[in-house]
Amino acid sequence: MYNLVIFGASGDLTSRKLIPALFNLFVKKRLPQRMNIIGFARTAMTSGTWQNQLAETTRKYTGNAGQNEAHFDTLWREFAPMIHYCTGDITDAASFQPLRRLLEELENGADASLSAVRLFYLAVAPEFYGTAAEQLGAAGLAEETPNRAVRIVIEKPFGTDLTTARKLNETVHRHFGESQIYRIDHYLGKETVNNILVLRFANTIFEPIWNRNYIDNIQITANENTLVGRRAPYYETAGILRDMFQNHLLQILTFVTMEAPSRFDAKSIRDEKVKVLQSIRLMQETEVMQNSFRGQYNGYRQEPGVKPDSITATFGAVRLFIDNWRWKHVPVYLRSGKGMPCRTTQVVINFHCPPHSMFQGNTEQMPAAHTPLLQGNRLLLQLQPAEGIQISFMSKVPDADMHLRSSELLFNFKDQFRGEMPDSYERLLLDALHGDASLYARNDEVEAAWQIIDPIQSVWDNGRMPPPELYNADQGGPDGAYDWIKKFGQSWFDLCPVV
Ligand code: BG6
Repeated sequence: MYNLVIFGASGDLTSRKLIPALFNLFVKKRLPQRMNIIGFARTAMTSGTWQNQLAETTRKYTGNAGQNEAHFDTLWREFAPMIHYCTGDITDAASFQPLRRLLEELENGADASLSAVRLFYLAVAPEFYGTAAEQLGAAGLAEETPNRAVRIVIEKPFGTDLTTARKLNETVHRHFGESQIYRIDHYLGKETVNNILVLRFANTIFEPIWNRNYIDNIQITANENTLVGRRAPYYETAGILRDMFQNHLLQILTFVTMEAPSRFDAKSIRDEKVKVLQSIRLMQETEVMQNSFRGQYNGYRQEPGVKPDSITATFGAVRLFIDNWRWKHVPVYLRSGKGMPCRTTQVVINFHCPPHSMFQGNTEQMPAAHTPLLQGNRLLLQLQPAEGIQISFMSKVPDADMHLRSSELLFNFKDQFRGEMPDSYERLLLDALHGDASLYARNDEVEAAWQIIDPIQSVWDNGRMPPPELYNADQGGPDGAYDWIKKFGQSWFDLCPVV
């Protein structure tokens, strides 16, 4: 018997992501057979009303499963009975008693010899994470028994810096053991992010060259063409570093740079991720000034809830170094921005140029596209959209003497596999229900990530760095970011994927 309780049932995350993901899993017959979804929120309503609301939002937000109206209605009628609603206030201890009774009723109705799983999902505002854990603990709902596993899923942001993350860890740990805590980073549920591990550790041709001897630099980009819109009040306190770097970009970085875990299990994977995060060189103030760049899109200060003189960055670029044998001296560039020309999340592995070229000298009549200058090979992992991989390499231009050109090998998921890419919440919800924490962040991982970000954020906030460069949305981001990377002798690899 599986009971998933969603705190923040009337919120956006629940209707846009969680319920559509659960519905898709149901359609694919991947949900456990005996399962209930219990919504908990302050708005007073019945289970039936909530089911009706969710029918509409799920119809809107599901991809493939909702294609055909009549088909959707049939499937929804089968799915809806597992949805229950419990009115309650997370700050009010008394509200947890009806929840407790509902859980007991649902469990008692089931075969008592079967084991139960209770999964509490905190889809509430971050200031309530600690309160929710305390209330669950006080109501006795955090306790496990031999027949009942209890888990808690905590959304991002996990703290706003190292101090607050530690404090939150302490609070949650007072009631839940670390093995019960699932800190979500939805990027880890993306198929293409997981494919980084497969590419590296299920093939022999990449791993031998995946190090400082062959790799010149790594670029990880997560650009979005959207603006902050109605999330402005949250964004104003977060900014790009807390919103994208501390979690998503650093998580991708760990997959790209960690050592090979011996097994695909939570401990082995998370141990390696922590090791690489702890090897990242922490920056002093002058280093932050040199090794980071920030921008803000024009119009951000006019978003509702933003200060008219705000210096919150909506674009950021950071150059990091990993001080270990594999990566010493290899710069890793992280970049993310809102209001960029296109949405793209990609990893670029730039290999060294060959040490010597014998193809110099016949440059005279060469067309511009044909170059005697060797370019280092490039491996491009397109994580989203247009999910795929490209390898670029030098090739001979036919019938043109020894003229060379950079050519590409392309792999696209959609050409090779049928079906839609599932939403990352499908994978992550299923893993949490089944007790697999491999794709969730551990306490030491989250803290190590804040340790890297905090010194950068504090220099960005202390007023000694130039303010963020203003840029026009949709036009390539701040120009200064190109000059910034140029001073390290490098350039951004920019590509708007063709979807
Ligand atoms: C969220 C950030 O965690 O990730 C958002 O808070 C961002 O600002 C989003 O837009 C990006 O997620 P995805 O899956 O659309 O790349």
